[in-house]
Amino acid sequence: MPTALITGASRGIGRALALGLAQRGYDLLLVARSAPQLAELAQEAQARYQRQAHTLALDLTQPDAAAELATWAAHHAPNGLAVLINNAGYGLWGRFEQLNLEEQLNMLQLNLNLPVQLTYALLPLLRRAAKSYILNVASTAAYQAVPSLAVYAASKAFLLSFSRGLRYELKGSGVSVTCLSPGATTTDFGNRAGMGVELQAVANKVSMTPEQVAEAGLKALFAGKAEFIPGLLNKVSAGLTSVVPKPIVEKIAAGIYEKYL
Ligand SMILES: NC(=O)c1ccc[n+]([C@@H]2O[C@H](COP(=O)([O-])OP(=O)(O)OC[C@H]3O[C@@H](n4cnc5c(N)ncnc54)[C@H](OP(=O)(O)O)[C@@H]3O)[C@@H](O)[C@H]2O)c1
Repeated sequence: MPTALITGASRGIGRALALGLAQRGYDLLLVARSAPQLAELAQEAQARYQRQAHTLALDLTQPDAAAELATWAAHHAPNGLAVLINNAGYGLWGRFEQLNLEEQLNMLQLNLNLPVQLTYALLPLLRRAAKSYILNVASTAAYQAVPSLAVYAASKAFLLSFSRGLRYELKGSGVSVTCLSPGATTTDFGNRAGMGVELQAVANKVSMTPEQVAEAGLKALFAGKAEFIPGLLNKVSAGLTSVVPKPIVEKIAAGIYEKYL
């Protein structure tokens, strides 16, 4: 059976991606910190889709996390890994100077260093499968600077650029790379980012569900797309950032995100 590894699978978009892959016939390797939620998801994949799932409760910001994860993955998928999803990530809302520096560096470790380290460690296993796929979960924030989410948005811009560069390098190798950039999605993201209730209420008005994001993202992945933005509103607003002058784009973003600081 083909096997898929998903980071940040305990809830939100990662959980929905995992169930979408189970439905498509993939066995699962599920990673996040919350062991009970991972166990519950593994049971659901087994009960609904008769797929095997192994879980690993691990803080992916730990220095040796990528190496530990790669060893574990090789043990459970010795014949090759068919899908790697770099989904674990979080945001921090606030002015750069007022946010804790350690926390911002921790976020960078999870949002960009870990995907780089894990992709590097797992490429030999991905190449072992006849055909394999990498999905990097970025954000519409990858397409523009966002005041009050400055470091988060920059981390997602990195992920988008890394995905495209790696994709080009891997042409003809059998490993396809896709970058998925969701807009606002109803998950725990806003709470973890420390966003206030007013801002979350605004976001909720235009949010997609994690299931909608995951389904669209998996279609894009298996269609071999380079990058994909789910949802018409998200596509249009990200598209506008390439034609509207940057100072105007940043002023509009500040008007939304800084208003409730
Ligand atoms: N929701 C949105 O509006 C939105 C929009 C654009 C992009 N995204 C991106 O989508 C991805 C998924 O986020 P989400 O919206 O589904 O948020 P979420 O509900 O907060 O889920 C985040 C996932 O990452 C895991 N995680 C966080 N810190 C971790 C750590 N140190 N070690 C291991 N796992 C960790 C969490 O599991 P544990 O807490 O159990 O570890 C959880 O499974 C993120 O990369 C995010 O930037 C989200």
